[in-house]
Amino acid sequence: MKHLLSIEELSAAEISSLIANAQSLKAERGKHASQPLAGQTWAMIFSKSSTRTRVSFEVGIRELGGFPMFLSANDIQLGRGEPIKDTARVLGRMVHGMIIRTFAQQDIIDFAKFSNLPVINALTDDEHPCQILADLLTVKEKLGGWEGKKFAFVGDGFSNMTRSWIWAAKILNFELTIASPIACQPPADFLNALNYDGLKITADPAEAVKGADVINTDVWLSMGQEGQREKEAEFAGFEVNAQLLKAASPCHIVLHCLPAYRGKEISEAVLEAHADTIFQQAENRLHAQKAVLVAVAKA
Ligand code: CP
Ligand code: NVA
Repeated sequence: MKHLLSIEELSAAEISSLIANAQSLKAERGKHASQPLAGQTWAMIFSKSSTRTRVSFEVGIRELGGFPMFLSANDIQLGRGEPIKDTARVLGRMVHGMIIRTFAQQDIIDFAKFSNLPVINALTDDEHPCQILADLLTVKEKLGGWEGKKFAFVGDGFSNMTRSWIWAAKILNFELTIASPIACQPPADFLNALNYDGLKITADPAEAVKGADVINTDVWLSMGQEGQREKEAEFAGFEVNAQLLKAASPCHIVLHCLPAYRGKEISEAVLEAHADTIFQQAENRLHAQKAVLVAVAKA
């Protein structure tokens, strides 16, 4: 595995192996036998805000023996219009790997092509693969695995998180129901090309949550969409709250990638009732990403 650009390009075996390695790295934290990034510098170009992703990568790279170099896109010439392909060719001659958080998926594909470095997607408008790996690790820890489990996603039906969950469901063959306002549902051409019977789309959150083992939500307006307040109005009735969860499986868990907007996509009471899972999920970013770093560094 040279890169992690999207969940879509991983096989079920690769995902399972990453999760198993993340579990080992989590158990061995503080006493790692090897330092696979020793002597390496990994640059992190972020064009969007971040708490969890930035901190977990900086800590993870250090714990694997490497040096993280955080580069806000606005502070480097990229922010003044230097082309991606030139930035990539320069960094490709200096550092050993790249973590990129940006808008267009094509930009990280181009960066990988022109830098010839291992590149990890730290969130684009299309995908958030590192988050999905941490979420799957959390599901494995809390429920023993994803096999035969019923997943629900309540919220924006075509955000980066939803799209990554859709690919994970198809690759790992679990049932996923997405509840979104009609205007925010995945487009028909995407669904036709996907061709996965285990994916259902509804405009009724109660239908999605009924019997679900894992209930997932995310912000209604992703980064870059903050000005689209009219889109937010579509989501009336889509809050994950105690009433909605009454129909879920008795042993259900609630996931949220964070940051959360209480009183919008999730109620204060539900977030706090499931805080143990949600903050374990946040911690798991560190362990899942260390498994990714080890995998791409040795490719
Ligand atoms: N979940 C997540 O990616 O959080 P940050 O935006 O804080 O990195
Ligand atoms: N869909 C959200 C995820 C944040 C981690 C966003 O892109 O803002």
